[in-house]
Amino acid sequence: KPKIVRTIAQLRREIAEYRSARTAGGGTVGFVPTMGYLHEGHASLLRRSAAENGLTVLSIFVNPIQFGAGEDLDKYPRDEERDIRIAGESGTDLVFLPTVDEMYAGRRVTTVTVSEVTDGLCGASRPGHFDGVATVVMKLFNIVQPDRAYFGLKDAQQVAVIERMTQDLNVPVEIVPCPIVREKDGLALSSRNVYLNPQEREQALALSRALSKVEPWIAEGCNASELTAKLRQEIALSALADIDYAEVVTYPDLAAPEGSLPLRQMRETFLVALAVRFGRTRLIDNRLLNLT
Ligand code: PAJ
Repeated sequence: KPKIVRTIAQLRREIAEYRSARTAGGGTVGFVPTMGYLHEGHASLLRRSAAENGLTVLSIFVNPIQFGAGEDLDKYPRDEERDIRIAGESGTDLVFLPTVDEMYAGRRVTTVTVSEVTDGLCGASRPGHFDGVATVVMKLFNIVQPDRAYFGLKDAQQVAVIERMTQDLNVPVEIVPCPIVREKDGLALSSRNVYLNPQEREQALALSRALSKVEPWIAEGCNASELTAKLRQEIALSALADIDYAEVVTYPDLAAPEGSLPLRQMRETFLVALAVRFGRTRLIDNRLLNLT
């Protein structure tokens, strides 16, 4: 059973105790930050951390500063009891469950801003979002001081942001990107999938279906703008889909591909990224393609 910790001071004590007991053995600390309502995607990160580290710390914190006005902060799904059970089954040792007050007591005048890689994709459609993510992750890194931190490529831009932040600020943590976990029919797992009604759930397959055609389209010689046009056409077959963005960028720089050459002729790693609204629910999915 994992130990439940609600304050920063107690978490620091627990981790310090583990580290002093294990200095000889070199036991490492693995960290998985989440906003809870855990699913198999989160569980895969926890199992990976448990396999690679002596101590696995999970944080569950619905971080208010990464939500914009009119986003789903108030209705973000929560189930603490179930989360703790899944955490235990996935090899978690410590679950950090701070309140908003514990994390943000008093007035905060410091923000971590990562530029450039936050200009496009979700950074463009959710202003301030990545400031909120970078700031809370930096705080959590300083609280936990993990050797390794595990992030899902479901949020590929988030991985790029956290990798740049840790490089630029010399944060002594190894960022471990982990593959996207999907439902049997292809839908990428997300805590937000519970918002979908049955009709939306069915049409939400448009994202993974479109992404599964990207490789053949590139093999046929598509350039970036032809590829995004095809993605849009494919997604538009689902009447309920309202496209936020469909883009091809280089990874991990998230820059627009230069020129209009067929992508297969460019020795690059590309991120093909989608954000699509179904009713009030915004879903993201992506595919990383290493053409180097
Ligand atoms: P959350 O959306 O709860 O996701 C926590 C972690 O689980 C992230 O690294 C995310 O990429 C990963 N994840 C989510 N769905 C996944 C899937 N289908 N397959 C693999 N990994 C998946 O991302 C956040 O929380 C927050 O922004 C956070 C980093 C905790 C900062 O508040």
